Amino acid sequence: MTFEEILAWPIPVLITDVNRKVLYFNQNWLELYGATADEVINQQPSMMQSGFTARTIYQELNTSLKNSGAWSGVLINRHLTEKRFLVVALTIMRWVVEDQTVFVSLHQPLDRLCVDSAVSIGSLQTMEGIFLLSIAKIAEWNDPELENHVLRVSKFARWISEMMRDNGDIPDADVDLIEAASVVHDIGKAAVPKEILFKPGLLTDSERYHVKDHASIGSEMINTIYHQMQSFHNLYGKLFEYAMDSALTHHEWWNGNGYPNGLKESQIPIVGRVVALADVIDALLSDRPYKKKWPPSQVLTYIKNYSGLQFDPKIVDVVITNWDHRPIFVD
Ligand SMILES: [Fe+2]
Ligand SMILES: [Fe+2]
Repeated sequence: MTFEEILAWPIPVLITDVNRKVLYFNQNWLELYGATADEVINQQPSMMQSGFTARTIYQELNTSLKNSGAWSGVLINRHLTEKRFLVVALTIMRWVVEDQTVFVSLHQPLDRLCVDSAVSIGSLQTMEGIFLLSIAKIAEWNDPELENHVLRVSKFARWISEMMRDNGDIPDADVDLIEAASVVHDIGKAAVPKEILFKPGLLTDSERYHVKDHASIGSEMINTIYHQMQSFHNLYGKLFEYAMDSALTHHEWWNGNGYPNGLKESQIPIVGRVVALADVIDALLSDRPYKKKWPPSQVLTYIKNYSGLQFDPKIVDVVITNWDHRPIFVD
């Protein structure tokens, strides 16, 4: 394979020498980072570092490249001309190309995974929204059947929140917060063993306990990230608070029969009550390996039946009234 062939790949590619000096890149890579050729040639890839990737990740990257000549993972890089982060899934390989040993790195921006999807992401296109969406996407890698589930849930959550705002039940600012926070509701699934997540048939009690753990684990994960990122802490405290609540409380029931804490009625934060309904609407309207999607009329009946049991009756009322105007997604 020649350098020319590698650079013709349709994804952003960067090639450095063994001392990590930039040799080549393609147009996709320049566009991704907003760089010009003159600025990057002979430079070190460290110029893309945002300071927000944990030091241990770079240590792991260096050790892995030294030992096996390859590394894959996620880095929080920065755009070179605009003030924003680029969360990229990166694969680096040590190759011999045209008799020269080089590192070839492929950069896949996680937000593009979402932008390219069939769903528009509206207010999630802010930096903090994209950040949450990106970490939510990482959880989806563990559970591909959830593909785009979190995006659809966020659209249902926005739809419900807008109706509640119009009724004067929640402040306007909550609409964007609930939409952005809802994408991480299942982030804890990244920590549930795949054998359990994909197990066909019934789960044992202890396996079910593991799955239920995704609510507490998810909220812990967000808490950890939140406290490590000082600037997010100051600027987006409210969003992260909502994000933690969305992960922790989306399986609580209005009557107190949910998990993990058996909260009841208004003890459940508003974002948890909205996401609980959005989550179930999407799950029932989608095909899953173990079930076919339900017709919308049957989903509506389910929601009505569980009003005041699983769901906040006031939220159920606005959903029933506006059911015909719900977001529709093409498969
Ligand atoms: Fe969940
Ligand atoms: Fe979910």
